[in-house]
Amino acid sequence: MREEKIIIANWKMKLGLKETLDLAKEVKAKFKDFKGGEIAVCPNFISLLEAKKILGSAIKVGAQNVFWEGNGAYTGEISPSLLAEAGCEYVIIGHSERRKFLMVNYEMIHRTIKAVLKVDNLIPIVCIGENWDERKTDRRDFVLFDQLQQALGGVDIGPDQQIIIAYEPIWAIGSGTAIEPSEAEYAHKIVRLTLNDMFGMSVVNKNFKIIYGGSINSKNVKKFVGLENLDGMLVGGASLDADEFYKLAKAII
Ligand code: PGA
Repeated sequence: MREEKIIIANWKMKLGLKETLDLAKEVKAKFKDFKGGEIAVCPNFISLLEAKKILGSAIKVGAQNVFWEGNGAYTGEISPSLLAEAGCEYVIIGHSERRKFLMVNYEMIHRTIKAVLKVDNLIPIVCIGENWDERKTDRRDFVLFDQLQQALGGVDIGPDQQIIIAYEPIWAIGSGTAIEPSEAEYAHKIVRLTLNDMFGMSVVNKNFKIIYGGSINSKNVKKFVGLENLDGMLVGGASLDADEFYKLAKAII
């Protein structure tokens, strides 16, 4: 399963309702004949249903967040099964912006992953990555190891379940500058080796993808092509323009 790359657009809270649906239409038209990779778009919650109608089945829809309980008195939250009912096939879990602004931690991320894996056909995109201070002080490897252990330790993965790990160095997100491809390759290798220790190599090869996120655009993506441990990209800013997003996706498949 590692051959097919996945390119995921994270539209964050950057677009209004009409803007979201207009962009969904543009993406749909642009990717009409796209082959060779999986494309997923994560709009805001309010736009999910309409965006799904527009995008159809060739382009997948994902959510940017989800709660760990299935049902109940949890004002303001959205459950994994509700997302699946709305046609979502992916959900981002523990994005660094949520870790920063909403105090989401890896215990919460752990509970959320388990809840998502209970729902058929909903694939978690688990975000990890070090901050600038951790990188500066050479703690990246330990941070990645620790985040993976906390997020996924003791999680049962069914034979056909998929998990995407998005390595997003926090200091590169939204900065306009991606990290060096060799650094991404190194970090992805750490992730893969840690997962191998936790789940065994055959499970990792079959059930996991490791993707990069942080200021990727259609130009710098070219340097990432062919990296051994790169299964795709999580794209923020550059996914807000259908043309740019298309060029980026074409370059990486
Ligand atoms: P960026 O965002 O591409 O704008 O850096 C990536 C992300 O936050 O997932």
